Amino acid sequence: MNPADIDINRVPKHVAIIMDGNGRWAKKKHLPRIAGHKRGMETVEEITTAASNLGVKLLTLYAFSTENWKRPEKEVKYIMSLPSTFFDRFIPKLIANNIQVKTIGNVDQLPAKTLAAVRKAQEDTKDCTGMVLNFALNYGSRAEIVDTTKKIATLVKNDQLDIDNISEQLFNSNLETSKFGDLSDPDLLIRTSGEERISNFLLWQIAYSEFIFVDKMWPDYHEDDFKQTIIDFQSRHRRFGGLKNK
Ligand code: IPE
Ligand code: IPE
Ligand code: MG
Repeated sequence: MNPADIDINRVPKHVAIIMDGNGRWAKKKHLPRIAGHKRGMETVEEITTAASNLGVKLLTLYAFSTENWKRPEKEVKYIMSLPSTFFDRFIPKLIANNIQVKTIGNVDQLPAKTLAAVRKAQEDTKDCTGMVLNFALNYGSRAEIVDTTKKIATLVKNDQLDIDNISEQLFNSNLETSKFGDLSDPDLLIRTSGEERISNFLLWQIAYSEFIFVDKMWPDYHEDDFKQTIIDFQSRHRRFGGLKNK
C-alpha cells in the first residue's frame, strides 16, 4: 500500500463501517470478549483520525445494534460503559481535529450514564465544523424504517399529507439520517471480520453504496488498512444504474 495512491479528490464523502470481530480477536488471544471491545475502542480512535485527515465528511460507525441486547448481560453492560471511557479520553482530540459527534439509533433506551456520556460528547463538539463522527447506537435499520413509516402515516391521518405525495424523497427526508442532508447515503460501506452481511445496518441508505469486506478483525484494522480500503474503493466504477462512470 502506498498512501500516495489515494486520489485525494475522490475520497468517499460518507464512509460507514460495521466494526465487527472484537470477540473473535479476543478469543484468539485467549482473552475475554470484553478485552476485544476495549481494544476495538482504540481502533475507533485510530480510524476516526485517519478518516478525518483524509477529508472524509461523515464517518458512521455501527457500535451497537438493536439485536445486540441479546448478548450476555455482562457483555452488554461492558459495552455500555465504553462511551464514557472513550469520550473522556478522546474529546480533546476530537475538538483539536474539529470533529463533531452525532448519533443515530434509539439512544433514549440506553442506560442513563451511557446516554449522558453521548450527550456530553455531542454538546462538547457541537461547534466543530469538520468531519462528523456518527455513532449508530441501539440502531436497527428496520426499526428506523418502521419509525419513518409511522411518522408519514400520522401526517396522512392528520390530513397534513396526501398519499400521492409519498415519494422516495419524502421517505428519505423522514429517516433519521436526513439530518446529514446530501451525505445521508454512504458512498462506501466497510465490514471487518470477514463476515459478508449487513446485519440490519442502513438498509435504505446503502442502495448504491460500494461494499468492501475486510478479513481482519476490527482491533487488527489499522490506518494503513483503511487507506488500502479507500484505494480499493477508488478502483470501483459507480454507475447508479446508468452507463457512464461517475
Ligand atoms: C463487534 O464485534 C462489536 C459489537 C457488535 C458491539 P463482535 O462483538 O460482534 O465480535 P465477534 O463478531 O463476536 O467476533
Ligand atoms: C453487527 O455485528 C453490529 C455491530 C457491529 C455493532 P454483529 O456481530 O452484531 O452481527 P451478526 O450477529 O454477526 O450478524
Ligand atoms: Mg460480530
